[in-house]
Amino acid sequence: MKRMEEMILKEGKILPGGVLKVGSFLNQQVDIHFMKEIGDEVARLYKDSGATKILTIESSGIPIAISAGFAMGLPVVYAKKNKSSNVSGDVYSTPVKSFTHGNTNNVVVTKEYLSADDKILIVDDFLAHGSALTGLIDIVNQAGAEVVGCVAAIEKGFQMGGDRLRAEGYRIESLAIVDEMTDDGITFREQ
Ligand code: G4P
Repeated sequence: MKRMEEMILKEGKILPGGVLKVGSFLNQQVDIHFMKEIGDEVARLYKDSGATKILTIESSGIPIAISAGFAMGLPVVYAKKNKSSNVSGDVYSTPVKSFTHGNTNNVVVTKEYLSADDKILIVDDFLAHGSALTGLIDIVNQAGAEVVGCVAAIEKGFQMGGDRLRAEGYRIESLAIVDEMTDDGITFREQ
């Protein structure tokens, strides 16, 4: 998605440790008009997928999933990172290690929101090492549902999670893939 690359070049800041800061439009602050374009692009990519639900993980995946949900007319389910008092009863759960933060969260989805006949489109903001998507795929498998594909707004190709999941046979669409980030600039993968 050319616009995603343009937004990254205009707004993104490269931080130490291979972190790309895009707080002005994707994380801390949301550009609602651009978010609509993101949702429309996800809908275009997956219009023939037969998806019945979108699954994401709190927190930054939620605006993207909501926008895609509007564009596709699909309900959105989001995984919570820690079982809390408002997530009660039977849950699917899986540990997700964050390389960026160095911690592991127990990620949970209430069982009643995913069923074996669902076809799930998984959406997230960043795809780095792929831990979050791997955890969400595990939850879909626990429900006996099908993963029709995954979307990341931004993939960091140099952290390999996307290519690992593609090699496993999953359809992974990233709206921009950053293959290199240096002081001299950002290199995007041709798609
Ligand atoms: P992975 O899931 O692909 O393995 O990635 P990783 O563990 O490295 O990511 C952990 C968190 O950091 C995730 O958000 C992920 O979206 C975010 N993240 C990873 N790389 C970048 C980056 O270069 N820039 C930014 N802005 N975020 C990055 P999270 O901790 O779950 O936070 P949130 O969804 O609540 O914002």
